[in-house]
Amino acid sequence: MRPACAVASMVLEEVAAFIQPGVTTREVDCYAASRIKHYGARSAFFGYRKYPCNICISVNDEVVHGLANDRRLQFGDIASLDVGVVYNGFIGDTARTVAVGGCSLEAQRLMDVTERALYVGIAQAVPGNRVSDISRAVQNYVEGNGFSVVREFVGHGVGRSVHEEPQVPNYVDSKAQDHRLLPSMTLAIEPMVNAGGPAVKILKDGWTAVTQDGSLSAHFEHTVLVTGSEPEILTCLEKMPSKLKVR
Ligand code: MF3
Ligand code: CO
Ligand code: CO
Repeated sequence: MRPACAVASMVLEEVAAFIQPGVTTREVDCYAASRIKHYGARSAFFGYRKYPCNICISVNDEVVHGLANDRRLQFGDIASLDVGVVYNGFIGDTARTVAVGGCSLEAQRLMDVTERALYVGIAQAVPGNRVSDISRAVQNYVEGNGFSVVREFVGHGVGRSVHEEPQVPNYVDSKAQDHRLLPSMTLAIEPMVNAGGPAVKILKDGWTAVTQDGSLSAHFEHTVLVTGSEPEILTCLEKMPSKLKVR
């Protein structure tokens, strides 16, 4: 998992740096494809359930699974970038929301709260805890800051497939199975946070999820290894092996 996650984090960093007013989401997707190829990896999303793009680019009220198209990013937009790569048979999955040039204070607060919610969740990824400890921490942090967590999409186990057991919801779901966390599990923890209500709907393209009330949404994700002690964030830039560090 380590090399795959290192590649995913490097690609996400590069794609984030590519974002600027005036570029189309299709240009962003093409650039992502070229960077993924550069590392000898392939997109884990392209073709997954017929997903037609290399990465997910979700702008403003788009929550997740935004499709690349001719839309030009504008100053003040926020763009959620989700990168999944397959490298040597394993998958790295990581996401981040960035401002296009700059953004409103409220949009910045939404991004900050979502990123911190991710780290608050990761801190619970220790052996002996259960999945619901992650869920509860994320939900409490987000709702305590006046935002809402999306229910329809959840974090997940990740390994040789993108979506493995267990599901990792960002809210406490008393009906769901609540697995105990064990060392060597690799989890994609990924809060999706709306500035308004939690409800989402899917656009006619069959993929793009948007907030029902049109409010902004942010998304941060890391692939995390549960160890015998502290969680290890695998999709952290610092994990890039030097032999892959070629730009
Ligand atoms: N990026 C999503 C995740 O983090 C999965 C995207 S599936 C795709 O779990 F088909 F939309 F690419
Ligand atoms: Co993802
Ligand atoms: Co994921």
